[in-house]
Amino acid sequence: MNEPDDLDLLARLTAGADMQSTHHDPEHHVRALRLVDGPMGVTGGLLDERDVSLLAPCGTALAATWSRATVEAVGELLGEQAAARDVDVLLGPNLNLSRSPAGGRNFEHFGEDPYLAGVLGAAWITGVQSKGVAACAKHLVCNDTETGRHGYDVQIDEQTLQEVYLAPFAAAARAGVWAMMAAYNKVNGQHCAEHPSLLTRVLREQWDWDGVVMSDWFGTHSTTGSLAAGLDLEMPGPARHLGPAAAGAVRAGDVPASTVERAVERLALLSRRTAGRTTAPRPDAESRRVLHEAAADSFVLLKNDRTLLPLSGHTSVAVIGPQADEPAYQGGTFARIALGPEVRTPLAALREALGPRVTAHEPGAPSESRVPSLLPLGPRATDSPGEPGFTVTYHRVDTDGTVSEPLATDTRATGILVWFTELPGIGSLADLPPGSNGLVRVSCLLTPDNDATYDFHFAGTGDVRLLIDGQETGRGGSRAMPADVMGALLHGNVTRIPVSLAAGRQVRVDFEMSFTGGGRAQGMQFGGRAAVPADLAERAVRAAREADTAIVFAGVSQDSSLESQDRDSLALPAAQTDLIEQVCAANPRTVVVVNAPFAVDMPWAGRAAAILLTWFPGQEYGSALADVLTGALEPGGRLPVTLARADADHAVPATAPSDDGRLTYTEGLLTGYRHFDTAQIKPRFCFGHGLGYADVRWRAAHLHADPTGRHLALAGVTLDSGTGRGGKEVVQVYAAPLTDTGTAEPGRPEQHLVGFTAVHVSPEPAELRVDIPLDVRDFSMWDTRAGSWRPRAGRWEIRLARSSRDIFQRFRVYIDPDGNLRTGPIG
Ligand code: BGC
Repeated sequence: MNEPDDLDLLARLTAGADMQSTHHDPEHHVRALRLVDGPMGVTGGLLDERDVSLLAPCGTALAATWSRATVEAVGELLGEQAAARDVDVLLGPNLNLSRSPAGGRNFEHFGEDPYLAGVLGAAWITGVQSKGVAACAKHLVCNDTETGRHGYDVQIDEQTLQEVYLAPFAAAARAGVWAMMAAYNKVNGQHCAEHPSLLTRVLREQWDWDGVVMSDWFGTHSTTGSLAAGLDLEMPGPARHLGPAAAGAVRAGDVPASTVERAVERLALLSRRTAGRTTAPRPDAESRRVLHEAAADSFVLLKNDRTLLPLSGHTSVAVIGPQADEPAYQGGTFARIALGPEVRTPLAALREALGPRVTAHEPGAPSESRVPSLLPLGPRATDSPGEPGFTVTYHRVDTDGTVSEPLATDTRATGILVWFTELPGIGSLADLPPGSNGLVRVSCLLTPDNDATYDFHFAGTGDVRLLIDGQETGRGGSRAMPADVMGALLHGNVTRIPVSLAAGRQVRVDFEMSFTGGGRAQGMQFGGRAAVPADLAERAVRAAREADTAIVFAGVSQDSSLESQDRDSLALPAAQTDLIEQVCAANPRTVVVVNAPFAVDMPWAGRAAAILLTWFPGQEYGSALADVLTGALEPGGRLPVTLARADADHAVPATAPSDDGRLTYTEGLLTGYRHFDTAQIKPRFCFGHGLGYADVRWRAAHLHADPTGRHLALAGVTLDSGTGRGGKEVVQVYAAPLTDTGTAEPGRPEQHLVGFTAVHVSPEPAELRVDIPLDVRDFSMWDTRAGSWRPRAGRWEIRLARSSRDIFQRFRVYIDPDGNLRTGPIG
């Protein structure tokens, strides 16, 4: 038994030290660990433009590669980047599933299928951890809705929980992930961070997992409950519920000292595991090549009539659409990465690739940014005139309204400012004296090129004013919601104020936010652009008509994918849908490139000759896209989500808890394509679909015993190449349980994915044999009464397929109660 003072030392380690780190205690072999947000990159501590980093394709894009090798390579790169920045734990992957296409954070998920998410999540983890950096699988579990994310209560049956939502985390545990994060939400009445069944029975007893489990940021709610349930670490610090309070709980006899000791042992293990980090990053060009190839590998060619793509022999190409030069590279969460100057837009990359063949660029519809950047208008700092950017000054405001002289001054080049716990010059939010406020002023000088109306946008967690040449011109902002300050910063109301400005006449613009003390964070966003001309669409349609080929860049802004807000529509913005329809009517050779990270609605799909879905593709979007459009690279993606013909066709079209905070998973096992298949609904584009450019013939399929005896069976196909272009092929295997009548089993999915392999097919004539291992787990179901997995004995069909709806061959097999597989003619 430890001495009481030792207990205090141990207990201190169970809570973070600050937003991103834990406490150091050499005596207990625990290092101060640095935990930094992912998963699309390694965020800097500052979370802004002063701290640029590499940006990878989003989780859904990585899932669309269906390639372990690609995902592991991205993981390795991120692990290396994290190590070089002295990060011990990278907070990713996000292994929640896209249960509904409306989920605000879907872009981080590896799609809708637990098997695909588990295999690719494991590949990401393996990559990151190969560099001695811990991955942290998040958010355990059912954190697939953002509305009311801190408290909604998922009502779910044990079988669905195990077979669907826990499955990717089980795969992460099997892959040896070193950390996991408990979700904000509740599951069946209990917050995940104090859920004994999840944190102890599942993680420790069923999975025998030895990593550290931490709370999501500000997601710990109790001392005894969390400790007793098995939470090892409260994040962030300073401690609220664990730390010193954990020692108190032990002294009060509420939890045994061994609980705290075990948590510290796990932290010590994590310290050892991350002690040997590899810190030398590869040269920048090589890093960018990994991201470039991964992006191309994720683009899904949904449709390609008359082989319009790759572009060849096209004399003139009209580039249309707002996303051509204002694309969305990533989502708008706090894990947002500040991009470096090397990032090129699709428009710039296409101009470089096609030269004068790009005959026109027309936006055609307004950009969708929630707060458009002012930077393209060339703002100059007021404090050091001439310097690009904004002068930011920090002040205190007395009870009588007197604003102090600047307590600190910065020059910044961003439209979003966020401060956690303290602000320069003002100090800690918690220490602002009662009645006294803080004030931040962002100032710049603008000299517009044109006489025009400019729309200024702003939002903030305090009261925000816009001043033009010292005159108040508008007010807005909103107070942060204390329950979800992180979310409130991202999606508070935006105020838009139109102001007429004259060409060549310099004006001073100030955005000024005042706020009260307390709280954990403050933030403001500001920006503006020239008002949209009325004939945007007409000009675009004219340009499309005059060109040989039109490429429409449609999509959503990064602000459409947020923490703590779900989507209320799966449609593209109406102006873009109209634009696509009009351009397709004007030019039958129209390619639509959709830059959106979820199962977006495409009612116009029948009218477009070619459609390429590019998700949130990361920083190498432009160059990867130019390579794919011109055929230098393969569009390697296959859908990891189902695209429906109508929103109502989805198993869960909208996702919001009911008024009592419950979120009931009534669809059970029938999520994603499982629902479409079982309910016999025709999707617009099915799960697993993607055309690619390669010419590959599927010659024969096979199913036989594994000669090594390691797997239950091997299923596969023989492919013939050499008929045309080489490239990528994805072989998919689905298992369908059959009843005696040969039909699907009631209540169970008609089929589910049990294996896949992505292969490279050479352009030379060759025969390629693909073998995919199958295991008893693939034919098992969760037995709630026994609390364990058991093989589902009976008839099964094993399907070798190009997609969930394009089945090449079916094999009927029998699985016996011991999990043996028998082939041969079975009914
Ligand atoms: C998110 C986590 C993230 C954490 C730290 C939370 O709001 O849900 O995914 O890792 O913040 O930034």
